[in-house]
Amino acid sequence: MSQSSPIQQLGAEVLRQTALAVEDFTASELVTLLNELMQHMQAENGVGIAAPQLGVSLQVLVVASRPTPRYPNAPTMSPLVMINPRYQVLDETLIKDWEGCLSVPGIRALVPRYPSVLVDFQDRDGQSQQIRFDDFPARVFQHEYDHLIGLVYLDRVESNRDIVAESEFYKRIKPVGAAA
Ligand code: NI
Repeated sequence: MSQSSPIQQLGAEVLRQTALAVEDFTASELVTLLNELMQHMQAENGVGIAAPQLGVSLQVLVVASRPTPRYPNAPTMSPLVMINPRYQVLDETLIKDWEGCLSVPGIRALVPRYPSVLVDFQDRDGQSQQIRFDDFPARVFQHEYDHLIGLVYLDRVESNRDIVAESEFYKRIKPVGAAA
């Protein structure tokens, strides 16, 4: 991450706020926000990003699954913009796996997440859409959704022992799970 990165870091007030719903889908600010989210996610090699991470407290997130060494079967998908998302849990079995976050640099942690969710959202044109996510994309989605309700992934960690330095993580795991 460059020093000029505008990604909000843990401790920033905006990461602890509940984001507001998007109401005006024609606002030029929304177009600008979507472009910036995409640019930063790609520049930081993330698999997802949420508007509060750019200091904008709106219910906008992007999920961009792709295969990684740890999730070789993860689907490759075009980055999906999701506005005003809501989700239902389809499988309540919590599964722990590694996550990182562009707003919490330098560490990784094991985070319990649901393996299957059904998401209702609006696309960039304001049209209602629904999508089911399983496994890795479901994890990415829940991570990004938490950013919209003032949570970071550390809030979901069961034990401090599940938190490791990124350098230790790479020793154990090989380069994997990109930050979100
Ligand atoms: Ni994050």
